[in-house]
Amino acid sequence: MFDLTGKVAVVTGASRGIGRAISEMLARQGALVALTDVLGDAVGQAAHEVVASGGKAEGYAMDVTDTAGVQATIGKILERHSRVDILVNNAGIVRDNVALRLKREDWDVVLNVNLSGTFTCSQAVLRAMMRQRGGRIINISSVVGQMGNAGQSNYAASKAGIIGFSKSLARELAVRGITVNVVAPGLIDTDMTRGLPESVRNEWASKVPIGRLGTADDVASAVCFLATDEASYISGQVLAVNGAMYT
Ligand SMILES: NC(=O)c1ccc[n+]([C@@H]2O[C@H](COP(=O)([O-])OP(=O)(O)OC[C@H]3O[C@@H](n4cnc5c(N)ncnc54)[C@H](O)[C@@H]3O)[C@@H](O)[C@H]2O)c1
Repeated sequence: MFDLTGKVAVVTGASRGIGRAISEMLARQGALVALTDVLGDAVGQAAHEVVASGGKAEGYAMDVTDTAGVQATIGKILERHSRVDILVNNAGIVRDNVALRLKREDWDVVLNVNLSGTFTCSQAVLRAMMRQRGGRIINISSVVGQMGNAGQSNYAASKAGIIGFSKSLARELAVRGITVNVVAPGLIDTDMTRGLPESVRNEWASKVPIGRLGTADDVASAVCFLATDEASYISGQVLAVNGAMYT
């Protein structure tokens, strides 16, 4: 069960944090993983470390906001491996401020990376997945996209948008054997949350009924399950990994 041997996976934002944990776990399950990130050197190093620990991996510099660059990189992966079975749209950023003071550029960049980047990368793999008559697209949203959060209206809008996009895509692609699902993490201990003020982290942590922050591996486990053949009848769903913070 949960064997991904022979599958080719692409993960965005894979140089650190949740994307890296997802890449490592997919590789441990036997997939060949193309780790991609806007940070080219860091993602090369991350891929190198996956290989050093016995996995199959390659690193690619890829900015999800660069449509031509995404198409070229996915094209290169398809040329090398002839297929993409799993796409994990994980790249994401925050630029927090209350709506009253939010700069237009901070609205735009968050929507561009988190939501438009998810569309761009999904579109880039669709033809190949349709040809294969199968595939898994797993998009990383957030509990904030489900419940909202003061000071994160841009981030919440992007993450809620990912849910609507994924549910629509799931309906378009069901007949082709391609599933599209969302994983919505709660508060996960990564660089992204380490950047939040201590007071915000503490306030959020106190609201988690399970009594701890999540780990990147908690999220990776959910992604790996949705990537398997065993999850073939699950599509258009949001799997919350949030310690019962939002139910
Ligand atoms: N950490 C949390 O608590 C949490 C909670 C819910 C959802 N998430 C989501 O999980 C995902 C990963 O978050 P994380 O905590 O690991 O964050 P992180 O900041 O540690 O990692 C994000 C990765 O995305 C990459 N990235 C940023 N912009 C990019 C671009 N334009 N193109 C390609 N790559 C880009 C970064 O270089 C980095 O490697 C994000 O989508 C985030 O919104 C995180």
